[in-house]
Amino acid sequence: MSSIKGKICVITGSNSGIGKETAKALAEMGATVVMVVRDRERGEKARKEIVEQTGNDSVDLMICDLSSMSSIRHFAGEFRKKYDRLDVLINNAGASFSKREVTPECFERNFAVNYLGPFLLTNELLDLLKSSAPSRIINVSSGLAKNGKVDLDDLQGERNYKGTKFYSPSRAPGYDNAKLMLMMFTYELARRLEGSGVTVNVLMPGFTATNLGKGSGSLSSYIMFKMVRPMQQNAKKGAETSIYLASSDDVKDMTGKKKEVKSCPASYNEELQKRLWSKTESIISLARKL
Ligand SMILES: NC(=O)c1ccc[n+]([C@@H]2O[C@H](COP(=O)([O-])OP(=O)(O)OC[C@H]3O[C@@H](n4cnc5c(N)ncnc54)[C@H](OP(=O)(O)O)[C@@H]3O)[C@@H](O)[C@H]2O)c1
Repeated sequence: MSSIKGKICVITGSNSGIGKETAKALAEMGATVVMVVRDRERGEKARKEIVEQTGNDSVDLMICDLSSMSSIRHFAGEFRKKYDRLDVLINNAGASFSKREVTPECFERNFAVNYLGPFLLTNELLDLLKSSAPSRIINVSSGLAKNGKVDLDDLQGERNYKGTKFYSPSRAPGYDNAKLMLMMFTYELARRLEGSGVTVNVLMPGFTATNLGKGSGSLSSYIMFKMVRPMQQNAKKGAETSIYLASSDDVKDMTGKKKEVKSCPASYNEELQKRLWSKTESIISLARKL
């Protein structure tokens, strides 16, 4: 059973892959979908397709680069001007980079897009989510989080970016680390939101044929992604858990969970979750000055 009709749902990275399928399914159920994308042209093409296929005109497009803290703050301001409530936030956007690169704000790219961006976006929209309760936050992590490490003294791999594991399909340790941090953020946020009516859960969509990894900057990753394509599920299947967590009444009270199966043991370290939160806050306050 679903009561998503008329609810306002923000989905980041919804012009492609799992995010696009999630947006389409929620639009089909009658939700007002706000597609948050970094490229207007790609976003508009996907938006039109979703409107045509679902017959739902309430599909909006807004621009935000999740690797840029200033873009996120700008987006949050613009969102508030247009909407006075937010029922579902799906932090879906993600990207994987094999080589260590930094953003113009000096954040390592995997860390910025997959962890710091969702952390800031969620916190910027938290008062709206609280005033719209019951509301839901859904974080899209990855099974590769089990290969991740959280070193509070080197969160962005400044001292150590080697150690790429051959068996890690992302071949990007920064990606695995950031996805682990996203899980830990989910569990710490769930404790902070207890009793607020805002639930927060994390999911691993499974190995899915999408654009992920195509822009990773590594030929070996590209070849590997091509080779494994026959083993991957399609994006519609990959979106199933996001859609379920966003819309099903069965999970309306569930919070702080990785659906059905447990996430990797490291993600449940409560002490580290708290320390990671405060370290992230100080990193973000540095970005405020940029
Ligand atoms: N595919 C898998 O096997 C798999 C497995 C585990 C987890 N995941 C996770 O699932 C989520 C969806 O990925 P996908 O597989 O559907 O890949 P995808 O097709 O590449 O979609 C990723 C989306 O994120 C957007 N994005 C990337 N960087 C961004 C940025 N800086 N700012 C704003 N948006 C940005 C992309 O926009 P552009 O089109 O503009 O690049 C795209 O819309 C990601 O969080 C990914 O880590 C995927």
